[in-house]
Amino acid sequence: MEIYEAMSTLRAVRRLRPDPIPVDVLERVLQAGCWAPTGGNQQPWRMIAVTDPDLKRQLADLYKPEWAKYVATFLDRIAGSPEEDKWRRVGSAGDYLADHLHEAPVILIFCADPSRMAITDAHLDRVSMVGGGSVYPAVQNVMLACRTEGLGCVLTTLHCKRESEVKDVLGIPDLWATVAIVPIGYPVGKGHGPISRRGPDQMTYLNRWKVPWNSGE
Ligand SMILES: Cc1cc2nc3c(=O)[nH]c(=O)nc-3n(C[C@H](O)[C@H](O)[C@H](O)COP(=O)(O)O)c2cc1C
Repeated sequence: MEIYEAMSTLRAVRRLRPDPIPVDVLERVLQAGCWAPTGGNQQPWRMIAVTDPDLKRQLADLYKPEWAKYVATFLDRIAGSPEEDKWRRVGSAGDYLADHLHEAPVILIFCADPSRMAITDAHLDRVSMVGGGSVYPAVQNVMLACRTEGLGCVLTTLHCKRESEVKDVLGIPDLWATVAIVPIGYPVGKGHGPISRRGPDQMTYLNRWKVPWNSGE
């Protein structure tokens, strides 16, 4: 698949079939993650591919109540908005994922070791952004590889609300952080398709902040 087609159709697929993923396909997806860049090429992250039914169930049991809390406030927020129907459909897909997370053939959990990262914004008086930059490119590589392989997936983070319990379930060491949970499986329906995003005209400035990219300056 051409890279631009993969990027522009990589949408969140939350309805996944339980059918197994062939080992060679999964290995290609995992390899794609390992090709991602990291600060100082340290690769200070690991993936755990959770396939054990009992462990997947425990992860799903931790995720589900956090999704329920999140979606309740989300639905309040979008009530009456012009795109309410669209957002309600996203909410339903999220409900489906929360109910069926344990059925995904693979739940990939990304972990990171902050002690091996040069977090160059750690001293600033704001939330650090840089540390995640040594992990999320791997997550995106994995997701693009899934797209190429016809696998559905979605980046999720709500498990972080229950991080210590998640770490207990999977035996993740104290000093490691959890970064994302990506359930992977073949889509129930069509799965991937065109995505809706603002484009460069709205997302890019030319030379200085707020100068429109296409201003011809
Ligand atoms: C940092 C991050 C955290 C996310 N956390 C969750 C999550 O916990 N649960 C979920 O269902 N989707 C989660 N998502 C998926 C987003 O909701 C989704 O990518 C976004 O709505 C765009 O959807 P689309 O790709 O289908 O257009 C997360 C995405 C990102 C980038």
